[in-house]
Amino acid sequence: MKSTWFFLVYSCCMAVSCLTAAPQTNITTDKYALLALKARITSDPHNLILTNWSITTPVCNWVGVACGKHHHRVTALNLSYFGLEGTILHS
Ligand SMILES: *[C@@H]1O[C@H](CO)[C@@H](O)[C@H](O)[C@H]1NC(C)=O
Ligand SMILES: *[C@@H]1O[C@H](CO)[C@@H](O)[C@H](O)[C@H]1NC(C)=O
Ligand SMILES: *[C@@H]1O[C@H](CO)[C@@H](O)[C@H](O)[C@H]1NC(C)=O
Repeated sequence: MKSTWFFLVYSCCMAVSCLTAAPQTNITTDKYALLALKARITSDPHNLILTNWSITTPVCNWVGVACGKHHHRVTALNLSYFGLEGTILHS
């Protein structure tokens, strides 16, 4: 259920960034949305996200992230195997 929860949170982040951000969103927007999500992770047993989701590598190369072939946008997240935990705080 944790991964489902993270997916929902991610969907909300994307929805918010679409509504509030610049008229144009792109792969960079996606990257920062995911980095914001990463910043909330308090437990990453395999240390995968914390080491792999590096700002210096393309978001499409990150583990658990799937990008569209043509649109160069993040299309799916699969974090179900990472055993992540975290909290989302309202700011
Ligand atoms: C993504 O969009 C932002 C702001 O809309 C822009 O500054 C940036 O250059 C764009 N990046 C790419 C890779 O298109
Ligand atoms: C992240 O994981 C992917 C898939 O295993 C790998 O191809 C990539 O090199 C990794 N990136 C980093 C920075 O470890
Ligand atoms: C998520 O990733 C795991 C491990 O890579 C894989 O076994 C599983 O089928 C994937 N689930 C989906 C819905 O893609």
